[in-house]
Amino acid sequence: MAKGLICAGGEATRLGELTRMTNKHLLPVGEWPMVYYSLALLQAAGVKEVLIVTGQNHAGDFIDLLGDGRLPSRTGEPLFDLDITYKVQTKAGGIAQVVAMAETFAGDDKLVVCLGDNIFEYAEVDAIREFTDEQESGAKIFLKEVPDPERFGVPQFDDAGNIIDLIEKPVMLDKRFTEAPSNLAVVGLYCFDSTVFDIIRTLEPSARGEYEITDVNRAYMERGNLTSHEVSGWWRDAGTFESLGDIGTLIGKTGANKVRSAATN
Ligand code: G1P
Repeated sequence: MAKGLICAGGEATRLGELTRMTNKHLLPVGEWPMVYYSLALLQAAGVKEVLIVTGQNHAGDFIDLLGDGRLPSRTGEPLFDLDITYKVQTKAGGIAQVVAMAETFAGDDKLVVCLGDNIFEYAEVDAIREFTDEQESGAKIFLKEVPDPERFGVPQFDDAGNIIDLIEKPVMLDKRFTEAPSNLAVVGLYCFDSTVFDIIRTLEPSARGEYEITDVNRAYMERGNLTSHEVSGWWRDAGTFESLGDIGTLIGKTGANKVRSAATN
């Protein structure tokens, strides 16, 4: 059975006074605290055991809110029936470093990794299950067309449509590029087999001093062991206080983490 990891660290000082109050991933988005969306996505995909990695500030707020992961809603129905473990990252060093913290937790199991500030209209359950239940080894990334790919990890394709490179923030961080090689963002949802930890041990920090998840994905690509899936519906990352409101409005209109019934597939 695959396990889940939610990356919920960072100080998020861009959110100003709000993140003095609590961790960014506990701020309200729509009718839920932000981290609920990642938990709901993992639960929809059939994951039971979840590790939450958070920064030291406000770490206790996660336990106050989520306890052991078995959480009824206000009206009493089960909201989450998960088994949650917590770990504290005292110094932020990139998403790959957070994934490395899941090594003992994951053991030989596959890992579904969510960035706790990424929210999806559809939970992409079929694509995740295809990886956890059918893909023998390797990794899977999720892509979404965006107007501003320079802000994200971006795939480069050959004429046949194969991914031939993955670039972290082309132009902005990776200065070899004067424009993004495609208009797709690699979104904050990743599936890895247990060799991910060996890959992370080979990484060097990037120009921004972080262990980049994009370098992990590129290593799988170079082995010919990376699959990708373009997400349907909208995808957002909640990095600014304006986005918290905008995403809440969007969720009010369409819902989030929807699971398609077989009939609408
Ligand atoms: C991170 C990843 C990037 C990915 C993005 C999705 O960026 O490094 O590849 O596209 O999350 O939200 P960061 O949040 O570190 O800027």
